[in-house]
Amino acid sequence: MKQTEFRVPLSALLRPTAPPVAGEALRDALGRPLHDLRISVTDRCNFRCTYCMPRDKFGREHPFLAHDDILRYEEIARLARLFAGLGVRKIRLTGGEPLMRRHLDRLVGMLAQIPGLDLTLTTNGALLARHAAALRAAGLNRVTVSLDALDDAVFRRMSDAHCGVADVLEGIDAAAAAGLGPVKINMVVRRGLNEDQILPLVRRFHGSGHILRFIEYMDVGASNGWRLDDVVSAREILARVAGEFPLEPLDPNYRGEVAERWRFRDGGGELGIIASVTQAFCRDCTRLRLSPEGKLFTCLFAGSGHDLRARLRDGADDAALAAWIGAVWQARNDRYSELRSAAHAPAQRIEMSYIGG
Ligand code: GTP
Ligand code: 5AD
Ligand code: SF4
Ligand code: SF4
Repeated sequence: MKQTEFRVPLSALLRPTAPPVAGEALRDALGRPLHDLRISVTDRCNFRCTYCMPRDKFGREHPFLAHDDILRYEEIARLARLFAGLGVRKIRLTGGEPLMRRHLDRLVGMLAQIPGLDLTLTTNGALLARHAAALRAAGLNRVTVSLDALDDAVFRRMSDAHCGVADVLEGIDAAAAAGLGPVKINMVVRRGLNEDQILPLVRRFHGSGHILRFIEYMDVGASNGWRLDDVVSAREILARVAGEFPLEPLDPNYRGEVAERWRFRDGGGELGIIASVTQAFCRDCTRLRLSPEGKLFTCLFAGSGHDLRARLRDGADDAALAAWIGAVWQARNDRYSELRSAAHAPAQRIEMSYIGG
């Protein structure tokens, strides 16, 4: 596969790591600003997707994080304020499955107090119908729901879940009815497993006001036995869709948007493609990730995190925490997807269910 060559501007390499200045965008070592924070609130999930938490590796004996090790909502909210002060404008709550964490609407309520934030959630949808109205009332803006198939048998084969497609569709409807739209729907496409579900999902969501997005299957974690042959490329997915629904490209909503946007020519709405394998987007990656136990990860493929919880629980004040976070961002030079190869494979990988994608 052709790798995109990424040229680091000399100015970025020479940029000294000065302490963050209030009002000035914080830049990492490759000149990228900090905009998005993905907060994983739990490493647990009620699904066992074969590409993320295969049941043989995430069984009953799996050492999930202990309650005391996970950041409390008050701790997350305090950190979120500091991140907002450092330039973060979007917070996405993830997991595992974030709705497995009790009273998540309480956390949403705390985060919604922070001005100027786009507050979003990525969920598998199984518990969404139950919680959508409370999440909206607490101040959540939008949701993204994962759904890999419309056919129940394929869905169960992919997700190894106890619920069915109807439960997830009910969650999507409840979210839209509660005002959490436009609802985005993420489909991870795996060769030979659910590629035949691409068109049924397009037909289902065409004209619905929801935005279906296809994700190239990625080599995250160490459990899914990823092979390049399992990836269905964005180009191939688009060709299949365009064979039935003519498409035209749309401009990104903002610089660094993960999904490439397309519009149905017949006015049936839009869809998105996340081509993190065949068209890496590290160049504009403005995302920082906070794990359930309070570690900061500067890349989805980073082998280890920076222990923010230790500083937080050692009694550091806000200024010291903000300076430390700023220094972590300024030192960041990750661009794994642009380098993806055996030579650059991290020695150790975090699981998607821990860091939330
Ligand atoms: P919005 O644009 O706000 O709707 O959300 P999003 O696309 O950032 O969030 P979502 O959780 O739906 O992510 C979609 C997919 O893109 C997931 O599979 C993520 O793992 C993947 N993704 C998100 N950010 C990154 C990233 O920085 N690097 C890589 N390689 N994949 C990412
Ligand atoms: N490759 C691509 N996407 C993945 N997701 C989980 N594991 C993978 C993987 N290996 C998706 C989930 C969810 C999003 C946050 O990440 O299905 O939609
Ligand atoms: Fe599936 Fe998401 Fe749960 Fe992973 S965290 S097992 S992708 S539902
Ligand atoms: Fe960002 Fe790392 Fe993903 Fe590249 S691979 S887009 S640097 S998270």
